[in-house]
Amino acid sequence: MGGVNTLKTLAGLIYSYVSDARRFWRYSYMRGPYSNQRTLQAHVLRLSHALEKGAALPNPRAGFGTEKIGQICDAIGYSAERWPVGEVERIGLATVEATLALHRANGVQGLEPLQAKVDQLKQRFPALDASNAAAGLLTISRSDLVQSLPSSPEAFFHSRTSVRQFGARTEFDVSTIERAVAMAQKSPSVCNRQLSRAYVFSSPDAIERILKHQDGNKGFGSDASAIIVVTTDTSGMYKTGERNQTYVDGGLFAMSLVYALHALCQGSCMLNWSQPAHKDAAFRKDCPIPGSEVIITLIAVGPLPDQIVSARSPRRPLGDVMIADFALNA
Ligand SMILES: Cc1cc2nc3c(=O)[nH]c(=O)nc-3n(C[C@H](O)[C@H](O)[C@H](O)COP(=O)(O)O)c2cc1C
Repeated sequence: MGGVNTLKTLAGLIYSYVSDARRFWRYSYMRGPYSNQRTLQAHVLRLSHALEKGAALPNPRAGFGTEKIGQICDAIGYSAERWPVGEVERIGLATVEATLALHRANGVQGLEPLQAKVDQLKQRFPALDASNAAAGLLTISRSDLVQSLPSSPEAFFHSRTSVRQFGARTEFDVSTIERAVAMAQKSPSVCNRQLSRAYVFSSPDAIERILKHQDGNKGFGSDASAIIVVTTDTSGMYKTGERNQTYVDGGLFAMSLVYALHALCQGSCMLNWSQPAHKDAAFRKDCPIPGSEVIITLIAVGPLPDQIVSARSPRRPLGDVMIADFALNA
């Protein structure tokens, strides 16, 4: 590459990094969680997760998490004063109540001030009634878990393939995507903050407008019955170390979504969003997703045809991928 081209490439790289960093600085809650309901809800989920995790440890510390219980109550009160109470606030309070119940059962003393905070919140904001939110601990028997596993895990994994020849749109039912997204919601996410989203487009006009911004769908994208744009919200991230966490959480969510679609007998193909900042900005002019969200990937979805002809995409040898007993530095 010649000198001028190298400089142009480097300038483009720096521009894209700066633009990513600007988004993170502007929307994440590095400077505190109290700026909007999304940041506050992420804060509530993060703290609630610390409580539920504390209870799920082999030997929970007696009376753990009392400081966090106070912080959750304060955050919920602040949110409920300003914005409509959402499920996250209810989950937060339900987790607090489950933790206080556990502490009481273990004979922990001095919980009255915290219980009073909870009672006050419930009195002031009846919508916080947590009766629908199942929080705290869950016990599953091993045999029930085994019952739910696929009889041939390899068959399930190996039969998924990126599909680039879709069946007819008339066979497509958008409710299948709803089912798949509901399953993908079970993906692990950092401190259970659940910041990923799936924007679903199923009109041919919208599909065409979306796909013209993407560079890997030529020759098949327009045959898809739906395009999903997977995003993750930086407003739920809170520290420098989480600057790439949106991509981790979003990638996991996208992968779960693709496996869920596979389990529901739908064909899918991920479509890269490996775009520099100016192309990402051009897409957002057509598709007004919130500025706080980063685009992870697009997914083309459609019914499976009777014969599925797909690229084999051979895999590297296992030994290239799995390194067992890797020697640590002396
Ligand atoms: C994030 C991501 C982006 C991708 N983007 C494209 C794309 O733009 N166009 C395409 O045809 N395939 C795309 N793929 C599909 C890959 O080519 C495919 O997953 C890989 O070759 C392995 O094949 P398999 O999915 O059939 O197992 C993408 C896959 C991933 C994970």
